[in-house]
Amino acid sequence: MSTPVESAPDTTAQDAHWWRQAAVYQIYPRSFSDSNGDGLGDLKGITSKVQYLKDLGVDAVWLSPFYPSALADGGYDVDDYRNVDPRLGTLEDFDEMAAALHAVGIKVIVDIVPNHTSNRHAWFQEALASPKGSAARRRYIFRDGLGENGELPPNEWTSIFGGPAWERVTEPDGTPGQWYFHLFAKEQPDLDWDNPEVHEDFLRTLRFWSDRGADGFRVDVAHALKKDMDAEVESLELLHRADLFRNGEHPLWDRDEVHTIYAEWRRLFNEYNPPRTAVAEAWVHADRRARYASPEGLGQAFNFDLLKADFDAEQFRTIISKNLAEAAATGASSTWVFSNHDVVRHATRYGLPKGSGREEGAGADGKDWLLEGGDPAQVDAERGLRRAKAATLLMLALPGSAYLYQGEELGLQEVGQIADEDRQDPTFFRNKGVEVGRDGCRVPLPWEPQGSSFGFGSNGSHLPQPAWFADYAVSVQAADAGSTLSFYRRALKLRHELQAAEALGWQDSVDDEVLHFVRPGGWHVVANFGTAPVVLPEGEVLLASAEVEGGKLPGEATAWVRVTG
Ligand code: GLC
Repeated sequence: MSTPVESAPDTTAQDAHWWRQAAVYQIYPRSFSDSNGDGLGDLKGITSKVQYLKDLGVDAVWLSPFYPSALADGGYDVDDYRNVDPRLGTLEDFDEMAAALHAVGIKVIVDIVPNHTSNRHAWFQEALASPKGSAARRRYIFRDGLGENGELPPNEWTSIFGGPAWERVTEPDGTPGQWYFHLFAKEQPDLDWDNPEVHEDFLRTLRFWSDRGADGFRVDVAHALKKDMDAEVESLELLHRADLFRNGEHPLWDRDEVHTIYAEWRRLFNEYNPPRTAVAEAWVHADRRARYASPEGLGQAFNFDLLKADFDAEQFRTIISKNLAEAAATGASSTWVFSNHDVVRHATRYGLPKGSGREEGAGADGKDWLLEGGDPAQVDAERGLRRAKAATLLMLALPGSAYLYQGEELGLQEVGQIADEDRQDPTFFRNKGVEVGRDGCRVPLPWEPQGSSFGFGSNGSHLPQPAWFADYAVSVQAADAGSTLSFYRRALKLRHELQAAEALGWQDSVDDEVLHFVRPGGWHVVANFGTAPVVLPEGEVLLASAEVEGGKLPGEATAWVRVTG
């Protein structure tokens, strides 16, 4: 039975609700555009591409961290939350960039990293120079070591990037001293969110960027801030599996108390007009995601379910229904994403070969393939891109926000092979042999088919670009109506025109491998996950991810059809 389209309040017209169905484009600033020829992307580079972003048709950009940083973790090791890395520009450059984006109607979302600072942050330097038990140390998680002389870490907990989660410090008098806790790299000491000073400082930071024109925030590892450091852990394997817990009792992740922080932030966000928005990065059990996304909390949380799913109609349908129901129940809007700076690009994931316990074309994270050498010859790039476009066109028709990652609009593939000496990701260094790291999706964008860095800058790029990047260059694709870039532009433009109430009605479909739904206004969406062509509903084909012939949609493709009457 088809489900009728339910009527939901039309919130698209109200500015305070701009985020509910926004297309948000993630910029990894160091790899977007380099204005001064130092091989690193920068804020002026972004400003120079505002027209590109406008032509693409996105509603907002989210910038990964651009703060001063030693780049021990690609900028997620922040030295100073209220400044710009001098290699990326100045605060004035930020103002100029925000003004240029706002002038063309694009909102600005900045990345907030509250779980940890960098080890070069003034607070951590002060903690190192201060004695045990001092106020400066209480902003972080310092503990005495075990063993006769405190030479053993306080417990056996391991960090996400591999190796122990504790690092020993040298006391100001030169003797070996206490240990501090770091969930991620050792250059990222965890803050103690039981300390009111930490709360106050982050409120100051949120106000700083809100006053400077930030329209919203992406909250890094939002589920990690509150911890029970004295808890007994059943097994080290469970230590990193927040998603398995649904009771808020994991010592490190998704504890119930974390929401008091976001209630505090929400009060601050609501002082602004329009209220500042936020989206949580919280890799938690799906049942608990809504807590982050509630209107009293951050408002939205990333839903990584589609990103983790196989290219499979049933899995997609279940995920979509569940997330829409959840969002409706809490008053949040859903989020959708296939690619970001932490995962293998979806055009590659969907083209991966069978093997390594992976189904053909599975949406699995692709890390096995990277470990095996990341050989591009093993990827069916054509099929990967075909499926990626089908999945993206389906996503762009869903109620809720769509998060896009720079380069996916070019159909860019993951760079699998990067020489050891060129790698930057701490997961590679701390975890060699277990993870290769995330550099392959962070290689600077190709803007031109030639030049020392394919138009990224005038003088090389901080991560080497492979020769095949030339084929994906923006200038080549912009001139080609059949390119992936032109497809994204059309899809985003149409999405704007068609978007209405946040409602979706499933339609009967003749085939298990086909999903069919309708949005208000007769906007039909048919996604064919199988390989045989299927007949489309009668109407005007507005856009399809592959050529429709004789009213039939080919395999591994999606179409938007306007059905009138
Ligand atoms: C988030 C970021 C990731 C970073 C980690 C630590 O997961 O997306 O890039 O390494 O947090 O800050």
